[in-house]
Amino acid sequence: MSEEIFKKVVSHAKEYGFVFPSSEIYDGLGAVYDYGQNGVELKNNLRQYWWKAMVQMHENIVGIDAAIFMHPKTWKASGHIDGFSDPMIDNKDSKKRYRADQLLEDKITKYEKEGKTNKAEELQAALDKVTLDNDLAGFKSLIEQYEIACPISGTRNWTDVRQFNLMFSTEMGAMAEDADKIYLRPETAQGIFVNFLNVQKSGRMKIPFGIAQTGKAFRNEIIARQFIMRMREFEQMEMQFFVRPGTQKQWYEYWKETRIKWHKKLGLGDDNYRFHNHVKMAHYADDAVDIEFNYPFGFKELEGIHSRTDFDLKNHQELSGKKMQYFDAELDENGKAYGNYIPYVVETSVGLDRLFLSVLCASYKEEEVGEGDKKDTRVVLSLPAILAPYKVAIFPLTKKDGLPEIARKIIDELKFDYNCFYEEKDAIGKRYRRQDALGTPFCITVDHESLENQTVTIRYRDTMVQERIPISKIREILASEVNWSKLLA
Ligand code: GAP
Repeated sequence: MSEEIFKKVVSHAKEYGFVFPSSEIYDGLGAVYDYGQNGVELKNNLRQYWWKAMVQMHENIVGIDAAIFMHPKTWKASGHIDGFSDPMIDNKDSKKRYRADQLLEDKITKYEKEGKTNKAEELQAALDKVTLDNDLAGFKSLIEQYEIACPISGTRNWTDVRQFNLMFSTEMGAMAEDADKIYLRPETAQGIFVNFLNVQKSGRMKIPFGIAQTGKAFRNEIIARQFIMRMREFEQMEMQFFVRPGTQKQWYEYWKETRIKWHKKLGLGDDNYRFHNHVKMAHYADDAVDIEFNYPFGFKELEGIHSRTDFDLKNHQELSGKKMQYFDAELDENGKAYGNYIPYVVETSVGLDRLFLSVLCASYKEEEVGEGDKKDTRVVLSLPAILAPYKVAIFPLTKKDGLPEIARKIIDELKFDYNCFYEEKDAIGKRYRRQDALGTPFCITVDHESLENQTVTIRYRDTMVQERIPISKIREILASEVNWSKLLA
C-alpha cells in the first residue's frame, strides 16, 4: 500500500459517503470528521464486532455507557492533569506547531525509505532515550543535530521544546461565577474505574472480570494528520479487566494474544499486524504494547494493551475517600482467603476510527476488468460481508413490466434481517460498480425471466460471478455468508 493509494482511499471515502470533513461548508475543522450514510453503517458494524467479541462472548465481561463529563477530580486522580502532555516545538518562521517526537519519527521513516537503516536505528535509539527521560532539551538537540527543517517554511528556526496538555476544558454551570472547570474525557477508561464498585456489586461480579465500553474521547492533538488516524474527537473501545494482584502478567499475555487474533480474523492479512513494545510507559502502566497496523503510510498504532497495575483505583480511593477494594473469598494454596485488596487492571484499548481506517485501506482494491475495448478498472471494497454497509442490493432490470414490484417484495422479506439497497436507475453494469465501491457483497437482479419462473440473478462482489437462483434461495445464501460466527467463532 502506498501514499498514492491512501489519497485514493480518502477521496473514495468522501465520494461514496463514508467520511466527510466536519463543517466542510466552512472549510472544515482541523482533525474533526463526520461519518456519512455508508460510513456510519460500517462503523456501527465494527463497533458491534468488538462488543460481541468482548461482552457477548465473555461471561465475565459486562458493558457500561458512562457520561463524557466527569467530576474534575477524576482527572487529578488519573494523572491526566499533571501528566497527559506531548512535547511540542514551534517553527518561528511558519508559526506552525509540531510534536517534537513526531518530527524525529518522520525523519526515521525517511531514512528507512531511503534504505539508510543504520541512520534510522541510530536516531531511533536516541529518540527512545530522550523519550524515556522526558528530556525536552534532548528533543531539541536531536532536531538540530539531524538538521530537521519545518515542512512549511523549510527553515530550522525552532523554539525550545515545551510540554502541552492535551485535554480540552470547558465550564459547567449556567453563571460564570458558579462555573467549574471540567474536561472532555481524553479516554473512556476512567468512566469504568469510577464505576468499578457499582458494577461489581450490582452484577455480583467475581474477579477476574471485565467492564467494557465504547464512546467518544477528546484530545487537543498538536498535529493532526493522516485523515481519521489522529483526530481531536474520536471513539475508543476499551475494556478494563480486573485481576488479582500478582496475576497481571498472565492476563496481559492472554489479552495480547486474544486481541491480535481478533484483528486477524478480519482477513486483512496477518502480515499487516505486529506488536510494538513501549519504551516509555504511560504514567499508569507497568507494561504496555501496541498492536500496529500496516497503514499505507507505514506501521502505526491501532490498539494499546496496558498493564495498569492498581494505579487508577488506588488514586480514586485516595481522592474520593471511598474504598475501592474487593473482597476475595477464594482460598490461596495455604487455605487462607485472599481477603481485601485493590484489584490490578489489564486494559485493552482500540480506536474505532483507526480500526475503520485499517479496514477501509486494506479492503480498497482497484482491479483491471474486461478485455479489448471493454477494458476498465473497477474499484471494490472487499469487506467481510457482515461488516458491509449494505448486505444486498436489489435491482429490477427495468422500471416497468412488474419488475420493481417483485424487487420490492424481495426487499420486504429481507429488510428485517439485512440492510438492503434498492436501485432502478442506470444500466445494470453501472449499478453493480456502485455497489462494488460500497462493498455490497451481493447484487440481485430481477428480470423478465423472474416473471416466468420466480428466479433471479445473484452476482457475487469479489468474483463477479453471476448465477441464476430461485428467489426462495436468496435467504439461504445470505444466512450462510452474512453471519457473525464467521468472525467470532
Ligand atoms: N485508555 C488508554 C488509552 O487511551 P491510548 O494508547 O492513548 O490509550 C488508545 O489510546 C487507542 O485510542 C489508540 O491505540 C488509538 O487507536 C486510539 N487513539 C488515541 N488517540 C487518538 C486520536 N487522536 N485519534 C484517533 N484515535 C486515537
